[in-house]
Amino acid sequence: MVYLNGEFIPKDQASVSIMDRGFLFGDGVYEVIPVYSGKIFRLDEHLKRLQNSLNSVQINNPYSAPEWSDILHQLLGLSTESNQSLYLQISRGADISRKHSFESLTPTVFIESNPLMPKTKSELEMGFRAMSQPDFRWQRCDIKSTSLLANIMYSQQAKQNSVEEVILHRDSNVTEGATSNVFIIKSDTLLTHPTGKHILSGITRDLVLESAKHCHLNIEESTFTLDHLLMADEVWISSSTREVMPITQVDDRLINNGVIGQHWSHVYDYYQGLKNA
Ligand code: PDD
Repeated sequence: MVYLNGEFIPKDQASVSIMDRGFLFGDGVYEVIPVYSGKIFRLDEHLKRLQNSLNSVQINNPYSAPEWSDILHQLLGLSTESNQSLYLQISRGADISRKHSFESLTPTVFIESNPLMPKTKSELEMGFRAMSQPDFRWQRCDIKSTSLLANIMYSQQAKQNSVEEVILHRDSNVTEGATSNVFIIKSDTLLTHPTGKHILSGITRDLVLESAKHCHLNIEESTFTLDHLLMADEVWISSSTREVMPITQVDDRLINNGVIGQHWSHVYDYYQGLKNA
């Protein structure tokens, strides 16, 4: 079952107009929200980021926070899975003709939920490979837009090269991953690109920073180069569906000789505690 514009209907019966600007232009925004043991994790933070994305592109939020919460819980109630990943998207809606500029339209709201199966600690301890690429995305990566062509190209490259993620760099500074935020550890200090227009301000990123603080790491939200990353003690990526994942090889360089770092293990454990709190 999915939610579409006020109704809960079977997925194969859900459809939208060919004039929907989400279909024609990718003119919409989205959120991905994890659900653990039936509880929506960090809903307020996700709704706040959704509001920021909507404000940036001038789409009116169709629902209040309590209304969103109510709809999401109703959808969750239709599934027996306890860990789920909610996907919600709001497009600007359907117009009568295709033009780039827009009038005031009724937004299209689509929500679905899928089982969420985060990797276990022992699976993560195997370490993951990444590759690097110049970041050729636009300058508003802070908007969680459904226009994801660049990210799709990178993710397909990752798949074709059998790596977990593409790590992006702009003007020699690492920005983020194609679908994640990036962290490095050097001598008990964690570095991650500052929030702003060049990265998506990940909800998991904030939780990783909170966990790292708790694990007595120094936190520096500042830029670092690809060379710094290749020489780091540890490299991690984070997202709502992957949580915090250790990267042990980038391009043909092993990170810390391919050995998982102890800081990752501590931060991972603390993060699990936050999920289950
Ligand atoms: N992506 N940066 C980018 C470009 C992302 O696409 C994502 C997440 C993140 C991490 O954000 P968060 O921690 O809030 O999930 C950072 C989601 C999972 C997706 O597009 O499916």
